[in-house]
Amino acid sequence: MNKLYFGDNLEILREMEDTRVHLICTDPPFNSGRDYNAIIGDSLAQKKTFTDTWTWDTAAQDARADIEHRAYTSDTYKALDNCLKGYDFVLQNAVSGSRSGMRAYLAFMGPRLAEMHRVLTKNGSIYLHCDPTASHYLRGVMDAIFGADNFRREIIWNLKTASDYKRQVNGFIRGHDVILYYTKSTGAFVFNKIFQPHKPEYIRRFRKVDPHGRHYRDDRPNSARQYLDKTRGVALTDVWSDIMSFQQNATSTERLGYPTQKPRFLYERMIKTSSNKGDIVLDPFCGSGTTIDAAHTLKRQWIGIDITILALDPMRQRLKDRHKLEPSIDYQIDGYPTNMQEVRKLLKEGDKRKYHDFSNWAVTRFGLKPTKDVGDGGHDGVWRMTLWSPQVMKETNARILAEVKTSKPTLPQVRAFCQVMNENNAAIGIFITLEPISAGMRQQAENMGSFTHNGRNYPRLQFWQIDDTYFENPDSINTHVRLPVEWRIRPTRKSKRHFDAQQTGFLRG
Ligand SMILES: C[S@@+](CC[C@H](N)C(=O)[O-])C[C@H]1O[C@@H](n2cnc3c(N)ncnc32)[C@H](O)[C@@H]1O
Repeated sequence: MNKLYFGDNLEILREMEDTRVHLICTDPPFNSGRDYNAIIGDSLAQKKTFTDTWTWDTAAQDARADIEHRAYTSDTYKALDNCLKGYDFVLQNAVSGSRSGMRAYLAFMGPRLAEMHRVLTKNGSIYLHCDPTASHYLRGVMDAIFGADNFRREIIWNLKTASDYKRQVNGFIRGHDVILYYTKSTGAFVFNKIFQPHKPEYIRRFRKVDPHGRHYRDDRPNSARQYLDKTRGVALTDVWSDIMSFQQNATSTERLGYPTQKPRFLYERMIKTSSNKGDIVLDPFCGSGTTIDAAHTLKRQWIGIDITILALDPMRQRLKDRHKLEPSIDYQIDGYPTNMQEVRKLLKEGDKRKYHDFSNWAVTRFGLKPTKDVGDGGHDGVWRMTLWSPQVMKETNARILAEVKTSKPTLPQVRAFCQVMNENNAAIGIFITLEPISAGMRQQAENMGSFTHNGRNYPRLQFWQIDDTYFENPDSINTHVRLPVEWRIRPTRKSKRHFDAQQTGFLRG
């Protein structure tokens, strides 16, 4: 059952059967008005991991029209449609500005929440992580879809934002996220009560000891002797202040460099409370896989969905490092190429985003950073190698570029890439193709000469034709492309490094 899907969760949720999932814990975009980058620090090459800015564009209008259409045949969509119509009044039917952004955001979230409701079992629960930007609107949407009676709690996660973190903010510093907790029904739902240890000053009250060595207190009038070993601890409230955010704990080894990653312990708490061993936990906005990691730790089955292929590497790495799980053996990956047939299928669908996903995947095999979607200046990946020359005890930098072609490559394209290499002073360029390269292209590589480092020559222009050997043995990439030893390609480690880049503005704040 354990499965990762790459793609739009609305499409994937719609393919899922009714009442299959016991628990949903999810952390969607919050309408924060920001774009999240997996790579920060080099203005040359930042790649959007996901965008959290919303406009009342045709996609949003189509989403609204679709909700209206479904409202004819589905009570859930009818309730959603009515709710959004009410919000249209509140938001004055705005078609520009932040109010229209909220309308677009709700048109995005509404149908996804409706499908989440459908796939939940009767005794299932959902935790929707959001923040005060949209939590009040989302609560109305959730009331419409799940029923106001099924609202259980609004959990406040105290982020403990450092007070000097935003000294310049004119107002109170935002210090919490909101987690909306609903169940599918009012009756039987799983709730495993969590107790926390008593404070030491409370425990000290049990100072008397009986002949069996048990601590007790009997200092309260009209009440019986109370034994310490019979007290269960303090029942958890809906204000959670004991789980550090990465804002507070910036050096945590748990951080993978994925923007908006949440602490695993936070998600473990929701899973422990609202599911049992063996239950199915779903996160349709799973990002770096915090929910699935937590679910696996607690012996639940899991399903993760994310639209960004860039989320796969940190997710796969964390499943391997923490649980020794291997894709295709211990869990399935859908929508991500694991052989050439799937690569071709991915590209045949002709979707521009999938092309970008593929190109991102290809350049990160070399540890390069994907370049921006727009105006990329003729290359799809870039990185700066730091090279060490022991003879002269000197460190130097050299730029490496990559270009991905999924259609049959042509000589003019290779020449254009060489020009981009020269303009960018690139030491080495990698031209990545799915089709064989021609003799003319090899000649062009000869003409580009070589890059010398520590007495060794490396062709400046190199080619990598992706084929099945790569999927069988990722290390085979080193036999096609020769790079200085400092840059020897170890596929997983390199792609991990891609996400290890320092993040600034890591959490919303
Ligand atoms: C706030 S992040 C989740 C972070 C996650 N909780 C973690 O700890 O890493 C939201 C995620 O939703 C994903 N996303 C946005 N729109 C999506 C869609 N339509 N379908 C699936 N995933 C989507 C983004 O790519 C992003 O990874």
